[in-house]
Amino acid sequence: MNFEALHEAVERLRAGRVVAFPTETVYGLGADALSPAAIAEVYRLKGRPQHNPLIVHVSGPEMARPLVHEWTEQADLLSRALWPGPLTLVLAKSSRVPDSVTAGGPTVALRSPNHPLAMALIMLFDGPLVGPSANASGGVSPTRAEHVRSAFGDDEVLTLDGGACAVGIESTVLMLDPRQGPPRILRPGVIGPDAIGEVLGIRVESGSPAASKGQPLASPGLLASHYAPRTRAVLADPNDIEDLLEDASEDGRRAVLLSHQLAAMVSDEHELVRMPASAGEYAAAIYDALRHADDLGADVIIITRPPDDAELAADRAIWRAVHDRLARATAVRD
Ligand code: TXA
Ligand code: MG
Repeated sequence: MNFEALHEAVERLRAGRVVAFPTETVYGLGADALSPAAIAEVYRLKGRPQHNPLIVHVSGPEMARPLVHEWTEQADLLSRALWPGPLTLVLAKSSRVPDSVTAGGPTVALRSPNHPLAMALIMLFDGPLVGPSANASGGVSPTRAEHVRSAFGDDEVLTLDGGACAVGIESTVLMLDPRQGPPRILRPGVIGPDAIGEVLGIRVESGSPAASKGQPLASPGLLASHYAPRTRAVLADPNDIEDLLEDASEDGRRAVLLSHQLAAMVSDEHELVRMPASAGEYAAAIYDALRHADDLGADVIIITRPPDDAELAADRAIWRAVHDRLARATAVRD
């Protein structure tokens, strides 16, 4: 751990500035969650619409309690079982949380990240930190320090380098405010409905169809086109890949193929980015692969549709979350 950088990061946070930090999921843009001025700076840097609320990162339940109206029994059970980890709990907020954090809404999203640097930062700062993914709004989430540095200069955002994120896709967001009905997953992540249901002793809705355009957002921030590369990206069934590549060749278009299939091959004019075949490794690699594919400057990114079923419930949850992100990365933009 680079203690000097950590120390400077804490100083900057105290001065109301923004610092990028690694978590087990993706890198976050950290700022004092109790300072409206610091939060305004996060929205400005990200170019984030004001109606999309931020996740607040805490060291654990002790730090979470004053931020919520009631720390429910379900929150207690889940935090004991799955924190620190990639699970965000949405609860009724207390008056201590600035309205800009929650985009004026009545609930606050909380999580305790499972990463030594993130945890050290929160503990040394000794207070909650907002932490939206450290990318410009709508872009691909960063899973390496270089990704963050390519978007924000060091004078603007100091980036703590924790290497590659182990999980690689954003946390599961779980609505846990009893006023909103039974617990419901708003954003799928590697912690799935089975794992949550097991802790709570109930069946949990896996929820969250990718929001379609024109409809009010099911959850703020669940915009259909999110996590998107600049290059047009399409998702295709394994059986269609060969035809798509041939069509591209005939039209003189260059394609990048992202494929988890061992037998995948492309002709010379195209590029192949190999993806792992296991759910966890696929999730950990996907954002880096999308960025790499984007940087190759091709005309189209073709993604071989990965499996959506698995023997283990844990793998099924991961594939589900991967499919959610791929659907967003390939959604047609306005
Ligand atoms: O893994 C993660 O969650 C990462 C790392 C850095 O912790 N953070 C992250 O933050 O993905 P962000 O801001 O990019 O995504 C937060 C998501 C958005 O979809 C937002 O709409 C939703 O959580 N959210 C935040 N507060 C909410 C609330 N009060 N009710 C419902 N959804 C909320
Ligand atoms: Mg994000």
